[in-house]
Amino acid sequence: MKIAVVGSTMMDIVSYTDKLPAAGETRAVRDFHTAGGGKGANQAVAAARLGADVLFVSCIGDDMFGDQCRMNYEREAIDTRYVMAPKGVSNGVATIIVEEDGQNRILINKGANDALTPAKLKEAEQAIAACGLIILQLEIPIETVYAAIDMGVAHQIPVLLNPAPARADLDIEKVCACEFFVPNETELSILTGKPTTTVEEIKTAAAELLARGLKNVIVTMGARGSLWLTKERTEFVPTAKVRAVDSTGAGDSYIGCFAETWSRTGDILASMRRASRYAADSVTKPGTQDSYATKKAFEGND
Ligand code: RIB
Repeated sequence: MKIAVVGSTMMDIVSYTDKLPAAGETRAVRDFHTAGGGKGANQAVAAARLGADVLFVSCIGDDMFGDQCRMNYEREAIDTRYVMAPKGVSNGVATIIVEEDGQNRILINKGANDALTPAKLKEAEQAIAACGLIILQLEIPIETVYAAIDMGVAHQIPVLLNPAPARADLDIEKVCACEFFVPNETELSILTGKPTTTVEEIKTAAAELLARGLKNVIVTMGARGSLWLTKERTEFVPTAKVRAVDSTGAGDSYIGCFAETWSRTGDILASMRRASRYAADSVTKPGTQDSYATKKAFEGND
């Protein structure tokens, strides 16, 4: 089953530091790199690296970063027929700071991602209609996200929405047609206006989304594991304890692996367990896409 990822492309500019600068202070960083990123691209790359056949629908820059991102997708054997480069628009860029404990802070400049309009999405409709799963995030215009969900409904294709970065104005009624809704605990809190510090609070907040009509809510909770909630059941999947060096893109690796496994097996719990192991492995290495294991490397630990 082919997977369509409709989402963002970014160039990640990453600095590793032991301490954040105070206002007005300049600090030298411990390490630095640039690499392909963007939540959509990361999820597409993770799924492709695990062997999925991936169609990526995205807007890249008409610039050097855009060229590098396209080459990256081609290297990963991703279907790039609808990786579009609107004239004169710059690539999306993410400025990322990773601290000593592996936690990250990210600022994004969406650039060409804002050009992925519903009209551009329509150009890819035939190719999307041939897929068995659509994956979405929120780094592209919100109207395009809603249009892609409608496209999924029209073609009877299940949709997985990762509501990241979170927006409090997401129209929950419009996203109820999604098969899977996969926020992390911070996104869940922003969406519901409820605290999500403890697992009990997370269950209460997720229950509100279920009451509003969402079907399968999967909450990723970093080192604490993930929770799957439906109206009838609640399942907890723990994650392996690892030493995190860089957690950037761990949530994306979870989604890419979940999608690849679910599209082969249809087994939600097994897909969550595998995705948990894949994401835990990714945080032990620096980088975002660079930290995603290939199928061969991962299956050695699988
Ligand atoms: O989820 C991690 C990603 O968020 C980074 O790669 C960055 O590009 C931002 O989009």
